[in-house]
Amino acid sequence: MSRIVVTGAAGQVGSEMVTALRSRYGQEAVLATDIKPPSAVMQPAFLLLDVTDAAAVSEIVREHEADTIFHLAAILSARGEAAPQAAWAVNMGGLYNVLEVALQEGCSVFTPSSIAAFGPSTPPDPTPQDTIQRPSTVYGVTKVAGELLCDYYFDRFGVDARGVRYPGLISHVTLPGGGTTDFAVEIYYEAVANGRYTCFLGPETQLDMMYMPDAIRGSIELMEAAPDRLIHRNAFNMTAMQVTPESLAAAIREHIPDFSIAYDVDPVRQGIADSWPRRIDDTAAREEWDWQPEYDLASMTEDMIVQLRSRD
Ligand code: NAD
Ligand code: SER
Repeated sequence: MSRIVVTGAAGQVGSEMVTALRSRYGQEAVLATDIKPPSAVMQPAFLLLDVTDAAAVSEIVREHEADTIFHLAAILSARGEAAPQAAWAVNMGGLYNVLEVALQEGCSVFTPSSIAAFGPSTPPDPTPQDTIQRPSTVYGVTKVAGELLCDYYFDRFGVDARGVRYPGLISHVTLPGGGTTDFAVEIYYEAVANGRYTCFLGPETQLDMMYMPDAIRGSIELMEAAPDRLIHRNAFNMTAMQVTPESLAAAIREHIPDFSIAYDVDPVRQGIADSWPRRIDDTAAREEWDWQPEYDLASMTEDMIVQLRSRD
């Protein structure tokens, strides 16, 4: 990797991925793009780009002379259920355009899949690397199809496409963009600002999660991993911890003793969460590219609260 284009760079992952890639590969080497206007941190190398516009994707990758694309533009699970046709167009159309330009220009591609690529018939605890994938959301359908498309472009054309199945990601730089795991970020913002939070999932809903610094580091490590070690290449299960709203609240109370949580369950997002694994098995990632998280619930909670308090 030496010249990199990032799509979806203004999002929860992209905003931190761009910073990490620039500190590793140089400011000018990393071109940030998004359909939304840039924040100050993206300057100077930012361009507006709609990933459904094949010609524009091709032109930007060629003009930047990119050898790697971090493809992060997507519509996530809850927003996807509100607009399924748009989710299909962006998630599948965007990925297809990126893989095609990667094929033409000889680029490597990083594309995240998700725990949403699993569904109610998947073994939920532990969820193996290779297992049943029949998701019940349009977002999940695009993630499974995307995993297969990336494998196809590697097997058929030799495009070096790699990716992980992120769990819910918790961060303090950019708010999440409309997923089912957004509660796990909102709870920290509300705890610091108001000392209370009303959760849209039930108290014992267990999901895999990860702190953003681990997700960013792990993604870059996968892209830098020796190719001959990769048996799976795409769609590695990747996790750091399993949490419930109640366990998050208990961890926050270690720092904010009066913190209170209430519940007002949203049936749509609860249904989505209930269709996802309770604990994924990321042995393949640990064995094939030495994936290892650094943060657990306690250390992540401490850092989230310190970081959010320092913004006030
Ligand atoms: P996000 O919603 O925060 O950001 C996505 C970005 O894509 C936004 O900035 C949006 O403006 C941009 N975008 C939307 N449509 C576009 C288009 N047509 N052209 C160009 N840009 C467009 O999402 P995120 O959390 O940063 O997710 C990044 C990737 O990680 C996605 O593939 C997502 O599925 C995956 N992922 C995220 C999580 C998580 O918890 N955040 C978990 C699993 C997988
Ligand atoms: N965090 C994402 C979502 O909830 C999982 O892919 O949609």
